[in-house]
Amino acid sequence: MAADKAVMVNPTRVDPAKIIAGCRIITLPKIADIRGNLSFVEGERHIPFVIRRAYWIYDVPGGALRGGHAYYKLEEFIIAASGAFDVVVDNGSERQVVQLNRSYFGLYVPSMVWRQIENFSSNSVTLILGSLPYSEADYLRDYETFARLRHEGCK
Ligand code: TYD
Repeated sequence: MAADKAVMVNPTRVDPAKIIAGCRIITLPKIADIRGNLSFVEGERHIPFVIRRAYWIYDVPGGALRGGHAYYKLEEFIIAASGAFDVVVDNGSERQVVQLNRSYFGLYVPSMVWRQIENFSSNSVTLILGSLPYSEADYLRDYETFARLRHEGCK
């Protein structure tokens, strides 16, 4: 990632309007119950897209990084189904770190945002809901190309 400084954003207090590049924390319903809490998410109701795919990242060894790319079209909603991790989001000139550490909220990440997931706690599970089926052609894996496209898009 090119940006030098990361801003730590605490999702329990952050103003969602302050997260860069259209990313925002979305708090999901939480049905508290002495038998265990329950949360849920519906596409086009709680998150702004139809859910076409779900995948999850688990058994992450200490110090590992995931992601490190953007998508041309894919929108995502990232939830810490278990444990905690940091999502680094980058708009081509600014970068923020959003910590996800509860399973009743998540981070919406629109297309054309560079994102990386890191600092995984042990036994964390990263659940990612996506707006499209998997397509390698949708990945933007070169940061310089990403930043150039972002800057061109801002003109
Ligand atoms: P990738 O998205 O590159 O992982 P990360 O960004 O976390 O490093 O995916 C890793 C591999 O898994 C890659 O070979 C493609 C495959 N994959 C699928 O086949 N389907 C999927 O839905 C995803 C997310 C990945």
